[in-house]
Amino acid sequence: MDRHPSGVSRANRTGTVQVKAKVGVLISGRGSNMAALLYAARHPSCPYELVLVAANDPEAPGLKLAAAEGVPTFAHSHKGLKRAEFDRIVDAQLRSAGAEYVALAGYMRLLSPEFVAGWEGRMLNIHPSLLPRYKGLGTHQQALDAGDSHAGCSVHIVTAELDDGPVLGQTAVAILPGDTAESLAARVLMAEHQLYPRMLAEFVTRERQPEWLLNKVREHALALPQADEVTSHGMPCFGIEKGKKFAYFSQGNHGDGVIAILVKTTAPEEQAMLIESDPARYYRPAYFGDGWVGIKLDLGDTDWDHIGDRLDKSWRTVAPRKLLGLKDIADQF
Ligand code: GAR
Repeated sequence: MDRHPSGVSRANRTGTVQVKAKVGVLISGRGSNMAALLYAARHPSCPYELVLVAANDPEAPGLKLAAAEGVPTFAHSHKGLKRAEFDRIVDAQLRSAGAEYVALAGYMRLLSPEFVAGWEGRMLNIHPSLLPRYKGLGTHQQALDAGDSHAGCSVHIVTAELDDGPVLGQTAVAILPGDTAESLAARVLMAEHQLYPRMLAEFVTRERQPEWLLNKVREHALALPQADEVTSHGMPCFGIEKGKKFAYFSQGNHGDGVIAILVKTTAPEEQAMLIESDPARYYRPAYFGDGWVGIKLDLGDTDWDHIGDRLDKSWRTVAPRKLLGLKDIADQF
């Protein structure tokens, strides 16, 4: 059975088998967020599992807990190693454990650009503030000093900048009269433990969610010259302005429960050829005839360059000659 990055295995011709996304967690100390992720993962409906807990401090208390709960652990002190050198060691451990995602949970190390690039779009962090406010350390004291009504926590995708990157979710925590940095941190931590497992679960399944998939299709389709989006028979569809349609987004149409894109084929035998080559992915869309092919998007391993390419080809079959000529010239640059 093939393994794919977003935790989905394509099993056979008859359908898909959902398996859990594999997550590696990096900690530096207590590891209470790691524990929250771990215990959430114990619920059968949780879409992820922890395959490794690694720490840059062999004494990190969280390691003992993870080991006691049967999660493989790895510890290596960063002392005396260059940042990139240390990160390569951690990276190798994550990959050999089969991690598809990384969750930073109180990992108090700056990451090398190589490490961040290697996990681009697949690494999350939890930070104890309402980002973009108060990056770095001392977040609770800063919120108190500023007289804020609320502190809180954020889960975000990790990018090269510290505590930056798209925020996936936040929880605001009211500041009480008499709060100290410690009392506030303790309440924010409770919110962290609720937020992180949810955000991680959503993140590892988002590539199967209809809204995310439609947005991806939209991004590619509307980048084509004179493309517009309308709704036809309840389906979002893409066409040339005032012209013909070149793609439909199908979500459970005709009760088939499938999320797919329908595009035009470019040759008479192409539909049959594609279905033959990968019957779990391609299909003959009901009521569309031979000139179209359905491509399932919710298998979890969609190659978006390929979808972009198919959209381009489909657009070409309906674009007026003049527009085609202009696009050919533009594509040369
Ligand atoms: C948590 O409050 C986490 O948000 C914070 O460190 C603590 C770790 O606690 N992380 C950062 O400040 C990262 N910039 P834990 O080890 O018990 O999860």
